[in-house]
Order: sequence, then structure tokens, then C-alpha cells
Amino acid sequence: MISTGSLPSVPAPLADLKVQYTKIFINNEWHNSASGKKFPVINPATGEKICDVEEGDKEDVDKAVKAARKAFELGSPWRTMDASQRGRLLYKLADLIERDHLFLATLESINGGKVFPNAYLMDIPASVNALRYCAGWADKIQGRTIPIDGNYFTFTRHEPIGVCGQILPWNFPLVIFAWKIAQALCCGNTIIVKPAEQTPLTALHMGSLIQEAGFPPGVVNIVPGYGPTAGAAISNHMDVDKVAFTGSTEVGKLIKQAAGKSNLKRVTLELGGKSPNIIFADADLDSAVEYAHIGVFFHQGQCCIAGSRIFVEEPIYDEFVRRSVERAKKSVIGNPLTPGISQGPQIDKEQYDKILSLIESGKKEGAKLHCGGGSWGDKGFFIQPTVFSNVKDEMQIAKEEIFGPVQQIMKFKTIDEVIKRANNTHYGLAAAVFTKDIDKALTFASALQAGTVWVNCYSASSPQCPFGGFKMSGNGREMGEYCLHDYTEVKTVTIKIPQKNS
Ligand code: NAI
Ligand code: MG
Repeated sequence: MISTGSLPSVPAPLADLKVQYTKIFINNEWHNSASGKKFPVINPATGEKICDVEEGDKEDVDKAVKAARKAFELGSPWRTMDASQRGRLLYKLADLIERDHLFLATLESINGGKVFPNAYLMDIPASVNALRYCAGWADKIQGRTIPIDGNYFTFTRHEPIGVCGQILPWNFPLVIFAWKIAQALCCGNTIIVKPAEQTPLTALHMGSLIQEAGFPPGVVNIVPGYGPTAGAAISNHMDVDKVAFTGSTEVGKLIKQAAGKSNLKRVTLELGGKSPNIIFADADLDSAVEYAHIGVFFHQGQCCIAGSRIFVEEPIYDEFVRRSVERAKKSVIGNPLTPGISQGPQIDKEQYDKILSLIESGKKEGAKLHCGGGSWGDKGFFIQPTVFSNVKDEMQIAKEEIFGPVQQIMKFKTIDEVIKRANNTHYGLAAAVFTKDIDKALTFASALQAGTVWVNCYSASSPQCPFGGFKMSGNGREMGEYCLHDYTEVKTVTIKIPQKNS
């Protein structure tokens, strides 16, 4: 949950954090990679290496899939465990994250470039909340009885799908790890997780907590490695029953193709976005400016839900731009562990280069640059908070996901026009509208093609809410009760009822 109110105080980050877990986690044990290779993990604020991690590839994925398959066999400790006990293991895991709160928040900040108070106040509690939410579902997943024609008793069983591959991004490494495993485990599946190559460290620490919580061996396996090798080995695997992915639309397509070419495994995808944020002249301007700012700049713009197309009604356009620029200039850039910093680095050189080149395209295509527009500092991957006005729909910065601290402000005149423009994108992850008029709010809640629509707020989310995208922003929904559909198979069981005299 992102709040615009004043935040509670946070402790100082751990001063001398030592990374403990750098190996591949299979069967509740730590393994070296089959190839003997390791890869460097970089601190994006300094560009320096934090440590080396074992580099998983196809052979390691095979080993993890075998462990997960064995853990899923009928009669295994996991398959014979009471559903309520599965829930208790998830609660225990949440408690262990809370015990290691400061350690995990510090590690997330160092590895992911996350501003430390955000990691401490948002990422860690959000991870705990996701596990507790799903823990409650474990013994409440019920089928139905169905009155079919004839003399039969028919019921449905909602069974776990089986071995689930989960491929993670680097922007919310721990939160998305927790979301993904919580949903799969409450339904009784077993898992192979591949964290993003940039940010494997909190995921690997979770391996130790999973073991400590008492999950049977093989239920959760964690294979760090690169996408085209370890990631592709999961999505192509003939013995993986489902893949859940969060990341780019480009890789989402590859994963669906891989599923189609292998065993037609189930696929759920949480992909990119170019979410519209529509501000009417009757809105509370202070609040709209603040939410629009946070909606774009939170975590350096590296959020799939970023409200990166801001449409402002003509009468307040100039004033909205003025206040947005003033707000952006208040950002304090620097090392995310330093107190008072509000903006950290981008995750890596690839993202940094992509963002800078999109900023250049905005300048070239004639958008008006008000602040920022370039890099910051002499080490790490920092980019100045950047605000563009006079942005036109056909400009690259209005069409492509920038995933950086870059705000695009456009002008609109009528409701029909802005609905058309807001929906004129391949994406459909989120959208927002700011207005005091309930009729307008309801019109937009139904007209906007997006998995989430916010009215007079932005980014509010919680494990009880289903999350996912329309169109090319994804397939399926995560969290909320809806997630149970995407982690279970429905089985129809029909029993003949013997009739008297038959
Ligand atoms: P990506 O989609 O390449 O990486 C995400 C995950 O997919 C990583 O674990 C990566 O190792 C894995 N992966 C990469 N290629 C794969 C393959 N062929 N098969 C299986 N797994 C594979 O994202 P990347 O390159 O880090 O970022 C590119 C853009 O994607 C960003 O600029 C942003 O626009 C978008 N993105 C969206 C995210 C979201 O939250 N929806 C998160 C991260 C990136
Ligand atoms: Mg990529």
C-alpha cells in the first residue's frame, strides 16, 4: 500500500550486513551449479559487486523439477499434510520474515536500489501480508456439488496443478517472491522459483526461512540464473505444469510460445503497462498532483502500474504542470541507504541506457522538458527526475513503457476524447481518474480497459485485491480469491447412485 501521508519512523539499516546464501536451493539443501559457473550480483547504487551467486542452468532446473515432482507425489509429506497445516507453515514463514525484517529490508535496499524506508515500511510488510492472506485460504478451497441429469452424485475437487515454475522480476524481488509462492503453496502445489539475475539475494535468504519454517524438502526450490538459460529451461520443461511470470511483455510472449511448443503448461503473466491517469479540473489539485507524482516516481519509476500517461483537463493544465515540476524538484537522489533520500538508482546499465534514450526521444520529438533530462552522479545508475509537458499521443515516450523517473503530461478537452485516448494502447494494467463528480468516476470505472481502476488515489493495493492486466498486460489474476482459480485444476467426480428396483 502506498500512502501519501506522513510515514512512521524507521530504524537505521544494518551497518555490516553479510550475505549468507548464494547457492541453489533444492530439496531444502544448498547446491553448487552443475556447470561450476557463478554470476556477479551488483549494487546498483555503486556499480560494485556485492557477491557471486551460483549460476543455475538447464541441468540445475532439471534437478529442481525432479525434487518438486517427488514432493508432489501422492503419499508424500506435502500431499498428505492437512490443508490447515499448510496454512500454519505459511503463517510461520510470515513470522520468520518479520523476525528478519531489518536484515531483509537492508538486503533489498542494497541489492535492488530500493530507498531503505520504502523497503522497510512497504516491501517487507507487503510480503508478510501476502503470506498471511494466502495462509488463511489453505483450508477454505472448496469444490461444489452439482445436480446433474440422471441418478448421479457429482462434485468438484479443486486440486493443486502440480509443479509450478515462477519467474520473477527485479523491481519487487521479495514482494513478488512472497506473492507467487503464497498463492501456489496455499493451493498445495510445489515450486521452482527463478529470481531475476539482478536481485537473487532476498529470494535466497527466503530459502533458509522456508527450511526453518518446516516445509518438506522439494516443496520450494530456488534456482538463480539468467532468463534465456534457467528461465527458458523452466518455460520449456515437459514436467512443469504451470509457469507464472512477471516481467516484460516481450518475454511474456516467449513464455507462452515455449508453453505451446512443449507441454501446453498453464501460463499466467503479469506484464508491462502504460497506465493512464486522468485528472479533471474539479479534482482536489494538491492530492492529484501528489498521487500523480508518486504514481510515476515511486521506486524510480520501476513499477508495472506506473501512471505514465497523465491526461489533464485543459483549464488546469498549466497549473498542474507547474505544481508537478515543483514536486519533482523536491526529490533527493542518492544512495538508498542514506537517510533523507527519496530516489535511488535504476536497477542496471541496460535499464539506465533504455531510459536515457527514451528521454532523448522525448526531447527530439518536441515534448517540453521542464526538469531533469539526464543522468546523475558519477557512479551507479542514477537518473534525474524528469518532467515533460506538451506530450502528444504518438510520441515514443507516450507509447512505450519507460520504467524510469520520467513523467509525461498531456492535455485533454472532453470525456469521450480522453476515454478513447486512454484506451488507445496495447496495455491494460491499471488506470486512475481524479474527479469529485461521482457520475464521471463511475463512467471511467466502466470505460477504462484495465485490470485495476483507481478513483482519487493511485497504487492502493492489498493482498485481498485481484491484480492483473487486460490486453497485453497479461493473463490471469494474482492474489485475492481469484488467484485460487489460477493455481488449481477443477476435477469433476461423478458417482452412480444405485436405484431401487434397477
Ligand atoms: P525481463 O522480462 O527480461 O526479465 C524478467 C524475468 O524474466 C527475469 O527473471 C529474467 O531472467 C527472465 N527472463 C528473461 N528472458 C527470459 C526467457 N527467454 N525465458 C524465461 N525467462 C526469461 O525484463 P527486463 O529485461 O529485466 O526488463 C525489460 C523491461 O520489462 C523493463 O524496462 C520494463 O519495461 C519491463 N518490466 C516489467 C516488469 C513488471 O513488473 N511487469 C518487471 C521488470 C521489467
Ligand atoms: Mg530482458
